[in-house]
Amino acid sequence: MQVSKVQLVALLLLLSCGMYSHGSKILVIAPLAGKSHWQFFGEIIKTLADHGHQITSLTSMPMISHNNVTEIDIEFDMSPLIPNTFENRGWWAGFSMMAKVPGMCTEALSRKNVRDIKIEEYDLVFISLFVNDCFFGLLDNTEVPVISMSPNTLVTTFHDIVGNVDFPSFVPMMTLPMKHPMTFTQRLLNTLANLFSYALTKFYYHPSIEKACKDAGLCPRDMRSIQDIAAKSAFVFINNVQALETPVRPYVPAVIHAGGLNCRPAQPLPEDLASWIEGSGDAGTIYFSLGSIVKPKDMPENFREVFVKVFATLPQRVIWKWDEASMPGLPPNVKLAKWLPQQDILGHPKVHLFITHGGLFSTLEAIYHAVPILGFPVFADQGSNMIKSTADGIAETIEWDDLTEELLNNTVQKMLTDLKYQKTVNHRSQLMRDQPMSPRDVVVYWTEYAIRHKGAPHLQSPVKGMAWYQIYNVDVWLSLIVFSIACLYLDMKIIIAVVRRCCYRTKTTGELKKKKE
Ligand SMILES: *[C@@H]1O[C@H](CO)[C@@H](O)[C@H](O)[C@H]1NC(C)=O
Ligand SMILES: *[C@@H]1O[C@H](CO)[C@@H](O)[C@H](O)[C@H]1NC(C)=O
Repeated sequence: MQVSKVQLVALLLLLSCGMYSHGSKILVIAPLAGKSHWQFFGEIIKTLADHGHQITSLTSMPMISHNNVTEIDIEFDMSPLIPNTFENRGWWAGFSMMAKVPGMCTEALSRKNVRDIKIEEYDLVFISLFVNDCFFGLLDNTEVPVISMSPNTLVTTFHDIVGNVDFPSFVPMMTLPMKHPMTFTQRLLNTLANLFSYALTKFYYHPSIEKACKDAGLCPRDMRSIQDIAAKSAFVFINNVQALETPVRPYVPAVIHAGGLNCRPAQPLPEDLASWIEGSGDAGTIYFSLGSIVKPKDMPENFREVFVKVFATLPQRVIWKWDEASMPGLPPNVKLAKWLPQQDILGHPKVHLFITHGGLFSTLEAIYHAVPILGFPVFADQGSNMIKSTADGIAETIEWDDLTEELLNNTVQKMLTDLKYQKTVNHRSQLMRDQPMSPRDVVVYWTEYAIRHKGAPHLQSPVKGMAWYQIYNVDVWLSLIVFSIACLYLDMKIIIAVVRRCCYRTKTTGELKKKKE
């Protein structure tokens, strides 16, 4: 009996050691995040959990069921940040959201189950760079390695976090309808827009979050700035595929491209869907989905009627993601469904067009499965995703305010008959699949690397500690220019002096000659 007890203890010890060596304890901080953000964060979490890491995730949207994932629900209502998306489509929607963040973030941070978290118990912390800024307060004064996550790409101050250098001379700002090469005016506008959003973040957004957090007693008075704490990040994981970025741009090693985590080969479809798509014959099928955040039932009736009327006259069949079982005037070639296996549909060879809101995940899935995109951007980054996809030649964009039967009909006809869209998207699909490491391997490798090398200080960009005028050598160029002007001025003086003398001489010698004659 005694022996077996010892054996049991030994076994338990062995087991716990074994578990420790296999898996690290990782904390994910993204309690304020919409569904589209969670698509990216959720994929990172599942990937790491599949590799045996133990993940604790702070969330207001529990959605992951996995043995190795513990979700801490902060029970927070995110809806003030996600209004009716058809009514709030302007550029100002972003500003009104920005103004709500300090209060919301502080409230989330005050939750008891958040206060109970001990950062030191973890081997690594992931944190979202969008809207969760006050949570950086938890990471001041800790040695635990940090990885930041951006559900899209690097914008404004995110560059500073990893010491990356942004080039407004050839990289258009995400929200601007420009592409490389830009004219002088475009570069000027791009530079000003970059400066403006940078200043807004640095001088209004971050300070107001820091103030709200300190006033609530949740952040220490002597806390460093959010920007400085965020700069501890070993890496920033971005939801981009490097080979698909136009134009390509330089990155420091701490920027890790993890885009396309969500993309996977198509699985066989459920029987009813499969036979519906197969039955569309040579004309093929159009897939229409506005994603998970844009609620179809919020769609104004006049928009819905335009779609119904145009679909009714198409030879194609249409699968429409709609949150009700039927609708008035539904034509026989249109099938409604509340939930659809998007990638299995996009991967079907008879699906020739994807009508979408242009969310980043849907866009990446369309490229992966090589289906041209007709985009109706609603809000957030959808507009800029569509600008980019349209410029890349794989998409057309229709603004909701421009939507008419004629425009929709013409655009759909054009995209189904002109083969250039399909050819271009086929090529981009090949580029996306031709990467040295799969996005999953990238996530696992660099996460474990950050743990092994304690935040990888050797990979950090020297730009982090430099002033802007040092980075661009502005002081050096100015000195050179001043020096050159001074030299030029001196040269001129000398030349003038010499010329004066010579002229005087030649004049006098000339006069002498004349006299001799
Ligand atoms: C969870 O992690 C363990 C090791 O810690 C691993 O053996 C197991 O496969 C993981 N579970 C799942 C469902 O992947
Ligand atoms: C769309 O265009 C086709 C021909 O190009 C036409 O037959 C059809 O009636 C049009 N549909 C609508 C709703 O205008």
